[in-house]
Amino acid sequence: MPLVTMTELVSGAQAGGYAVGYFEAWDNYSLEAVMEAAEMEGAPVILGFGCMMAEEEWLDRGGIEVLAGMGLPLAQRARMPVALLLNEAHSLDQAKRGIDAGFNAVMVDSSAWSWEQAVAGMGELVQYAHARGASVEAELGRLPDAVEGGIDDSAAALTDPAQAAEFCRLTGIDCLAVSVGNVHLLTAGYAPVDLDHLEAIYKEVRLPLVMHGGTSFPPQAVPRAIAGGVAKFNVGTILKKRFLDAVRGRVAVWPASVDPHQVLGSHKKADLLNIGKQAMAAEVRRLIQLYGGSGKG
Ligand code: 13P
Repeated sequence: MPLVTMTELVSGAQAGGYAVGYFEAWDNYSLEAVMEAAEMEGAPVILGFGCMMAEEEWLDRGGIEVLAGMGLPLAQRARMPVALLLNEAHSLDQAKRGIDAGFNAVMVDSSAWSWEQAVAGMGELVQYAHARGASVEAELGRLPDAVEGGIDDSAAALTDPAQAAEFCRLTGIDCLAVSVGNVHLLTAGYAPVDLDHLEAIYKEVRLPLVMHGGTSFPPQAVPRAIAGGVAKFNVGTILKKRFLDAVRGRVAVWPASVDPHQVLGSHKKADLLNIGKQAMAAEVRRLIQLYGGSGKG
């Protein structure tokens, strides 16, 4: 199955009444975890890497090209329909470099940009991306922040439905990430999402909507969110947590005589990172099922 566009994946999900997961990876083990989970579920999936947590200097010293170089060969041999996303790039320049390096979908973190900057910047990126067969996700509004002990919504802004429709019309983006109370990077508890507001946005926009902050999105709200236009969930934190817990558990019981060649980089059963990968793949499979994507590939 060749690499397909993210636009095809989210449109298919929108038409089919399910959502496709973007499960954020950070290296080849975590990327393989997502791809293998999708293959086991027979589900389409969005593979990719995020810039939010990565060192800015590293990204600009060739990190984006390294990530594309890891992702593209894997995505090209996927047995399920996949797209390859560079998520939350810090600038237009990074997003364009991502496309040049092989990502076929990009998203820029424009949450701090003015309306004029966002309209001009995303319009420019759409032209660049579409001319090269790539898709663009943009966001409007600003998510609350996860802070020690809870949620800080002092800088948050809900996505305005009429403004969102105007933004999509002016820029030509392929899908829109919304702020409806969802929270990024929350490690415990669920976000107080406003599904009435989500429905009001979708009524105006009609484009596939994207929900960031998948880790803390309440599972019981998933069916109504999908009916209310969400065609893509972004998930990050819970995946790293599952990976790390598995690795930590294994290291704790290692004998002092452990063979470094077996446990580091062998890709065999004993490989420490392979143990993390298996735990992460189990979580990805659970979420694919929750989003209704199983068997849709
Ligand atoms: P979580 O880390 O809260 O799952 O959010 C991930 C995300 O939205 C990446 O764009």
